[in-house]
Amino acid sequence: MLRLGIPARIFATMLRLLPGRVGDRMWRWWYQRLAKRDAWGTLDFMNYGFVDDTSLILTEEDEKSRLFIQLYNMNIRELDISGKQVLEVGSGRGGGASWIARTYKPNMLTAIDYSPQAAKMCSRKFSDITNLNFSEGNAMKMTFEDNTFDVIYNVESSHCYSNMDSFGKEVFRVLKPGGKFAWTDFRDKKGLKNTQEAFLSTGLISIKDEEITKQVITALDQINEEKQAMIQKGTGKFIRRSFETFAGVKGTPVYEAFQNGTLGYYRAIFQKPEL
Ligand SMILES: C[S@@+](CC[C@H](N)C(=O)[O-])C[C@H]1O[C@@H](n2cnc3c(N)ncnc32)[C@H](O)[C@@H]1O
Repeated sequence: MLRLGIPARIFATMLRLLPGRVGDRMWRWWYQRLAKRDAWGTLDFMNYGFVDDTSLILTEEDEKSRLFIQLYNMNIRELDISGKQVLEVGSGRGGGASWIARTYKPNMLTAIDYSPQAAKMCSRKFSDITNLNFSEGNAMKMTFEDNTFDVIYNVESSHCYSNMDSFGKEVFRVLKPGGKFAWTDFRDKKGLKNTQEAFLSTGLISIKDEEITKQVITALDQINEEKQAMIQKGTGKFIRRSFETFAGVKGTPVYEAFQNGTLGYYRAIFQKPEL
């Protein structure tokens, strides 16, 4: 198995800039490590964040994660979630699912992640939230019955999936007729086209799509120093640059790719047709 050393920096860059070349097992290995690593501190999020002119009211505790919560909120705010069966695919360290379960009050929010370590950690950490459960699960091969969920959402996770067609088919299968799917993530131009095709070819109907790169760069800028300090505290010198690249710190190839337009950040909402 790959060790974190000099190749790790190349690996971290590949993860972000050439995601299609990284296999699912490599992603799982990486996120298993991140679920445990100090480099991420106690942060419950692993996304790039989002800033617009919406002023969300947050608790003192949630305030620390404002930029990351804003990305989640932007993704799902037009959807009707209260009292519904909701699925998050790729829930990571669970901060987004926890905030949505507490704020939007679904009947039950089921959150899956490919990393068993992350799912276990979240189940422990958020055990007091009664309308939320976490489990290990693969976006491309879900274990749920057909027509289970009213809403499915997905935040900065699908760039890891080796087969977007399989993900699209699974979303379509487990959504109830009339159910909505909210997606957000980064892509290069070709990747964006493939992603759109993967969703639309299932029969999902496009309700909305939008580029949000500027709002994501603003968040990356706002959080830059805090993120760098956290990574500095949690990592040895040797692998620090890998984490900075992965986290989109200023001056890394990922940050530059957003700035020069090689990478864009996008969001979309789809609906499964009513019967
Ligand atoms: C960048 S993190 C984002 C986590 C979270 N959505 C957030 O915004 O903080 C990507 C997540 O996708 C998960 N993931 C990768 N491949 C997956 C798959 N095939 N199925 C489900 N989750 C997957 C990873 O384990 C990781 O937790």
